[in-house]
This record gives sequence, C-alpha cells and structure tokens, in this order.
Amino acid sequence: MSTIRPYHIGFSAADLEEGTTIALLSGDPGRSRHIAESKLVGARLLSDERGLDSYAATLSNGRPVVCATSGMGAPSASIVINELAQIGITTIIRIGTSGSIQRHVAIGSVVIAHAALCRHGAADDIAPPEYPAAADPFLTVALANAASEAGVAHHVGVTASVDTFFEGQERTATSANPHLLRRLQGSMDEYVNLGILNYEMEAGTLFKMGGVYGISTGCVLAIIAARHDAENPDLALKATAVDNAIDVAIRAAATWTRRDS
Ligand code: URA
Repeated sequence: MSTIRPYHIGFSAADLEEGTTIALLSGDPGRSRHIAESKLVGARLLSDERGLDSYAATLSNGRPVVCATSGMGAPSASIVINELAQIGITTIIRIGTSGSIQRHVAIGSVVIAHAALCRHGAADDIAPPEYPAAADPFLTVALANAASEAGVAHHVGVTASVDTFFEGQERTATSANPHLLRRLQGSMDEYVNLGILNYEMEAGTLFKMGGVYGISTGCVLAIIAARHDAENPDLALKATAVDNAIDVAIRAAATWTRRDS
C-alpha cells in the first residue's frame, strides 16, 4: 500500500481502511462533514488542510468510503481529484449544487449529469477542449436507479460546467459586475435551446479527468436555484435538495461495482 501523502489533501492510502476505492466529493467542506457524520457511520476526520476537509466513513452495508472536499471551481477540484486517484480512489461521485436552466427542472429535484458542456480552463490542461466530458455510463445508470428507488425527482442529461458563478452563469443583478462580455450575453437562452439542464462548476473537469485517468466518475446535483426565474439560490429549499442528492449518491455507492474497460 502506498504511504505517499499527497500535498493538498493531506492523507494517504495508509490512513484509509483497506479496500477504500470510492470518494463522495462535495464542493463544500460542511457538506463532507454532514455526509460523514449524519448519513454514514464511523466518521473519522482524515484532514482539514486548506478547508479541504476529508473523512473516512462507512456505508450501511459496511463499504468504506472517503467523503472528500473539492473546494469551489475546477482548478481546486482538479488537484483533489488527481490526489485521490494517486491514493487508489477509482470511483468519484460528485455531490454538488446547481441552478436549473430549463423550466421543467424544479428546485428540490436533482440532475444526474451524464455529460458536460465544459467551459473550464483547468480541463484544457488535462485534455484538448474537444475531448468528451462524459461520466461513466454505468455509474450514471446506478445514480438514476438510486434516485428512482429513493423517490427523488430527477433528470438525467447534460450540465453546463463553467468557471464562474456570476459572469459565466450570466448573473448581473446580484453581481458586483453588471457588464457581461458580449460572448456571454444570451448564453443561457442558447443553452435552453441546446437542451442543457443546469449550471454548475466542477463536473466537466471531473468527467474529463475520469476519461484520461481511467477512473469512474459520476455527478448528482441538487437544484437550488431556478435561473429562468431568479438569480439567487433558494435558501429555504437548499437543505432538502442537498439531502436528496446525498441520498442518491449514497444509495448508488452502496450498489456500485466498477466495470473496467
Ligand atoms: N451552483 C452553481 O454553480 N450555480 C447555481 O446557480 C447554484 C449553485
């Protein structure tokens, strides 16, 4: 077993129970703690360096997992994903939050992204822009089945993964910057017409890294904003939406068996 402790995540394979291959990856360290301490058993803090809080914990069927934190945005996520792969993680399920673009994707539901329109600078350091940002199809099916079993309203489709929460998601009224670059003006309308379900900020890079590194990646996103109606997230409904996404990810992780290509 490798005892290399990668610089940023601050823990190594030697700190994990043998056979730990799945990471539940949240952007928010508080969500990682919530999953480990409230949804799983035997939570044990592995590291809290740089706010990238990580926990070892066990699913109800006894399978060990890591609850890791990516931080906000693709550059930070790419470092965490790389280091998780270095310590033997072969499946990463992102549990994120998101704003819906399509009217039928309601706050409280979840989006299970099978692919991303990837507008990430970080991903371009890993693969050419035209390299597909695609989730593991089998893991995506496992997530969709888990959502059906849990009775969670869900949509499977393409997400828009962008680098900025404000300009990149066409926010102006709630942003310090009321001016949008011409190339971004009208981008949300364009995405409606392209059938893209929602905005988020890390899945595209995760998916491309999955393809290049040969690891399984999937993504379940809690819809907390309805961007066709408002710019702000709905804080009253956020906790329910996030718990729905967590429930889906945990159920999928419990049944997941990776298929090597
Ligand atoms: N995360 C995003 O990237 N966008 C939203 O609107 C909400 C959460």
